[in-house]
Amino acid sequence: MNDKFYITTPIYYPSRKFTLGNCYTTVICDAVARFNRKQGKDVFFLTGTDEHGQKIALSAKEKGVSEIEYLDEMIADAKALWASLGISYDKFIRTTDSYHEKAVQKIFKKLYDKGFIYKSEYEGLYCTPCESFWTESQLVDGKCPDCGRAVAPQKEEAYFFKLSAFTDKLLKLYKENPEFLQPQTRVNEMVNNFLKPGLSDLCVTRTSVKWGIPVDFDSKHTIYVWIDALTNYITALGYGSDDQSLFEKFWPANVHVIGKEIVRFHAIIWPAMLMALDIPLPKKVFGHGWLLFGGDKLSKSKTNGAKECIDPRVLVPLYSADAIRYILLREIPFGSDGNYTTEIFLNRFNSDLSNNFGNLVSRTLSMVKKYFGSVIPEIKELKENDDIALQKDVLDEVKNTFAFMENYDVSKSLMSIFNIFTLANTYIQKVEPWAVAKDEAKNNRLAVIMRNLLEAIRIGSTLLQSFLPECSNKVLTALGLDPSANFENLDNFNGLETGKILGETGILFPRLDIAKEIEKLSSLAE
Ligand code: MSP
Repeated sequence: MNDKFYITTPIYYPSRKFTLGNCYTTVICDAVARFNRKQGKDVFFLTGTDEHGQKIALSAKEKGVSEIEYLDEMIADAKALWASLGISYDKFIRTTDSYHEKAVQKIFKKLYDKGFIYKSEYEGLYCTPCESFWTESQLVDGKCPDCGRAVAPQKEEAYFFKLSAFTDKLLKLYKENPEFLQPQTRVNEMVNNFLKPGLSDLCVTRTSVKWGIPVDFDSKHTIYVWIDALTNYITALGYGSDDQSLFEKFWPANVHVIGKEIVRFHAIIWPAMLMALDIPLPKKVFGHGWLLFGGDKLSKSKTNGAKECIDPRVLVPLYSADAIRYILLREIPFGSDGNYTTEIFLNRFNSDLSNNFGNLVSRTLSMVKKYFGSVIPEIKELKENDDIALQKDVLDEVKNTFAFMENYDVSKSLMSIFNIFTLANTYIQKVEPWAVAKDEAKNNRLAVIMRNLLEAIRIGSTLLQSFLPECSNKVLTALGLDPSANFENLDNFNGLETGKILGETGILFPRLDIAKEIEKLSSLAE
């Protein structure tokens, strides 16, 4: 077994406050990172911020502060948001960190020395007020897509990366290793839209963008923000510095998780750069879909005409980090888009978290209190089909959870875990413990049922820890277990200590009055 696991989120543009949509990639990576740690693997989970380029310089200017003042404030806000959501990253990289800037310059020079970067002229349609080049196809009604003003053809001295030299190598990569990029639909997109028509060389410096890393041997040029940004995945591990030990230990990454709109950068430009540098490729790039708000990727605060609150800074304190993590992880099906509305969120809160999970835990703990004085009953031989079936079905869902996680299908994995709680609830309805309790002669059966329920809750909560850490830790603690332990006893119903006294969890997810909450959230929407 490979006991190392390196996972990355994209580094975020702090050009505006992070949205619920931005939280999606980070929360997925967090769940995957935690799940791998629980398997005893040595995990390195990287996130950070992408801080150069025109957009950042403009945002700072609008606020009337320096770029770095602007960035420091945004990064503090981002870190506070990640802390509130329980994001367990191992490193937060900022592309303005000096070790990163130095390594990017070294990488650029190395590519130049190897002949993969050359000097030429960039020709494009230039918008002077925006200081931006555009291609014909990017224009809107023949005008600058950002400000709507006229553009004019202009030339600028620039360096180019020989991307065209990698078309065949990348086609070979996708032919021999289709698993490199997932889901599969994204491979077809890359191959048919970009690789088969042939790649063009990529302009990788600007003289007009001042807020960027300068080319150290030609300082009027700054390095294209995507070249700077992509290298974070290796500079964060010390590549290009005096201490490369983390790079040697963790590279190649197991997976870069990214949104579908930036697949081209990660699945074409990044592998080409790595090939040029003779560095092994990451094992996988996973391009997830979007969380849509009123059909849009950007957090519009209106869906279906109603005002919606979609600010994680408001939602987390109101409903808990676990509830927000749940909706993000559950609502977007594998690789495709998913819709967010306040109503969908609140309904899931009530039906899945409060009813299915919360109620199961509270009713089971109170039954064990009532019938066994909160003492975990001992394991008895199973005689009834219902008792045997519960164990088998739960252990099948454990296997499903692992299988889905193997493919980064977090949504299905989470569904399998919740199926465990559904199975336990259905079991209660079927075996009617309250009826069994009335019959003294069936005392053994009552112990079997209670132990079965407690073990099912233990198994489900253990798996759930990576997804919803707060509530599942509470449950495991109440069951007398150490929440920091790695996965154990997930293939049997014998993980609890007989005779131990159960603790309490309190109400895990108090049931919400949906109409009232919708009104409240609408008044809080910006
Ligand atoms: N800075 C680049 C990434 C460079 S990586 C070398 C960038 N940043 S971003 O802030 O615009 O986006 C960061 C991530 O947030 C992307 O993966 C993007 O897909 C994700 N999301 C932003 N809004 C989203 C949704 N509404 N839904 C899901 N994820 C989306 O791109």
